[in-house]
Amino acid sequence: MDPFAVAFDLERGTLPNPARKQVRCASDMRGCYADAKALEQLIAQGNPVHYEVSEVPVPESEGHLMYCLSWLLPGKVGDEYFMTKGHFHEKPGTAEIYLCLRGEGRMLMKSPSGQNAIQKMTRGAMVYVPPFWAHRSINTGSEPLASFCVYPADAGHNYAGIAASGFGRRVFERGGRITVEDR
Ligand code: F6R
Ligand code: ZN
Repeated sequence: MDPFAVAFDLERGTLPNPARKQVRCASDMRGCYADAKALEQLIAQGNPVHYEVSEVPVPESEGHLMYCLSWLLPGKVGDEYFMTKGHFHEKPGTAEIYLCLRGEGRMLMKSPSGQNAIQKMTRGAMVYVPPFWAHRSINTGSEPLASFCVYPADAGHNYAGIAASGFGRRVFERGGRITVEDR
C-alpha cells in the first residue's frame, strides 16, 4: 500500500469523515453495568449512544498499526459512569497507546492474573496499556472523552473474558465524588 495521511481535529477531538464508524448504544452494553435495571430504563428512554469508534482501516496483518478515535459520551447508568465494554486483545501479547485529546476519565486495566491498574485520562495524557492487559475507558466528566488509540493491526479483540468476569472494579459517582469500588 502507499503512504497516506488523515487530518484529526485536535480541538474538538474528532476524526472527520472516517472510513468506518462503529457505534455502541445502551442496548449493546447489557451485562456491563452493575445496575442492569437502570440500563434497561435508559434503553426504554431512547437507547442513547454510549460511544463511537472511528477508523481509517489498514490491513489487519503483522507489521501494520491500526489506529482510531474513540469517542465516549458523558452519562451514567444508575451511579456508574458511561464506559466502553473493555477487552483483552485476541493476540494477547500486544500493547496499545491511548492519547487523550478531550474530556476527563479513567483507563481501567486488568492483568491476566486479575491485578488492576487505573490511570487518569485528561487532554494530553498518554496511557500505555502493556501487552496482556485488558482495558476499558470510563468517562467521569461532562463532555465527550476522546482518545487517539494505536495498536498492532493484528491484535484483534477478545470481549469474552471481560464479559464473563468483568474488571473487578467499577467507577461511580457517590455524593458528587468520583469513587472507585471493588466489585
Ligand atoms: C482497540 C481499542 C479501542 C477500543 C475502543 C472501544 O484495541 O482498545 O479502539 O476498541 O475504545 O472499546 P471496546 O472495543 O472495548 O468496546
Ligand atoms: Zn484494545
